[in-house]
Amino acid sequence: MNGTLQKWLGDQIEQLKAENLYKVPKILETPAGGRVRMNGKEVINLSSNNYLGLANHPKVRQAAEAAIEKWGVGAGAVRWIGGTMSVHEELEERLAKFKHVEAVLVFTSGFTANAGTIPAVVTDKDVIISDELNHASIIDGVRLSAAKYKKSEGFVYSHKDMEGLEKILKGAQSFQKRMIITDGVFSMDGDIAPLPEIVRLAEQYNAFVMVDDAHASGVLGKNGAGTTSHFNLYGRVDIQLGTLSKALGVVGGYIAGSAVLKDWLINRGRPYLFSTAHPPMVAAALIAALDIMETDPEPMRRLWENTRWWKSALQEAGFDTMGSETPITPVYVGDEKAAQEMERALWDEGVYALSIVYPTVAKGKARIRTMPSAAHSHEDLEAALAAFERVRDRLAR
Ligand SMILES: Cc1ncc(COP(=O)(O)O)c(C=O)c1O
Repeated sequence: MNGTLQKWLGDQIEQLKAENLYKVPKILETPAGGRVRMNGKEVINLSSNNYLGLANHPKVRQAAEAAIEKWGVGAGAVRWIGGTMSVHEELEERLAKFKHVEAVLVFTSGFTANAGTIPAVVTDKDVIISDELNHASIIDGVRLSAAKYKKSEGFVYSHKDMEGLEKILKGAQSFQKRMIITDGVFSMDGDIAPLPEIVRLAEQYNAFVMVDDAHASGVLGKNGAGTTSHFNLYGRVDIQLGTLSKALGVVGGYIAGSAVLKDWLINRGRPYLFSTAHPPMVAAALIAALDIMETDPEPMRRLWENTRWWKSALQEAGFDTMGSETPITPVYVGDEKAAQEMERALWDEGVYALSIVYPTVAKGKARIRTMPSAAHSHEDLEAALAAFERVRDRLAR
């Protein structure tokens, strides 16, 4: 053990604790759902991305079990080295049809799909233009690239500011390629990117668009096909990222686009080239999850019924939901310490809802981030609302 490293790590941890940024994950002792047992306590879970309740759906479980019987538990190697299993190919074909695109390539997570794709499609002659609230995995993918991208150099626009985007595009005409990248649904605020305007500007200034639909997958558009479907922009978004880890209930990420994009990423997408494929049961479970999404409207209907009720009930009770438009529903607090106190008080009341503080969001914009899902009953949400009201009254005293 290297003493210098160990001491440095210890000091860093102490610093995080001093700044109230130290995280300890709670232990989930039941499947992901609306009501769960965590750290030995039964709670209403408002912090899961299991939007459609598919993570523990009997048909999805059965598909995974059958795939273990047929394929075993591991893929054995990177796909281009060990051979790509037909179940992985089948999943990609299904996803391409679902998204109305020529081709899809699956990565082992949404994070690696961003980290692998962004650097692969630009060079040092290009520029990447980003919304300031883009997800960390987009930011890391952008940083791995050779393109110009820095905020200090003027390539980051204020959140959803289309005049700002146009100004940057106008000044970026000397680059060989211009890439605009945005979350489809912003992960900490729950609002939707103005994709029609972004696409219009991209077409006007000869740029291409990549949209990260991690929180739109299974949530927006036809059967949950995402923001491109929601805004009817089929064929006008070059690169769509979806996650298989949230609404689809399993794990993974994918890139949807043209056949030549897929071909390029198979050859130059580093997480695809250098990391082992998903276990086959993951692909099989995802095909079952897609079957449900395409044939059973009920989970999405319940998700949106719960979302509408939850947002309007919070607003009527006087909470600020920060203009969110999707199941991601922040409850604004402002002060970091107050948000953390609120999280603890909610936990005492039997509600698990995480506080989100700096550096995940800007200083002074702390919030409790809640996510209703199809897995919640109406009683769960009523009980959670009553807990929010009691906690607010108690902390105000
Ligand atoms: C906008 C966004 N993109 C990508 C990801 C990463 O997806 P995954 O969990 O599949 O790695 C997340 C996850 O939080 C996200 O919110």
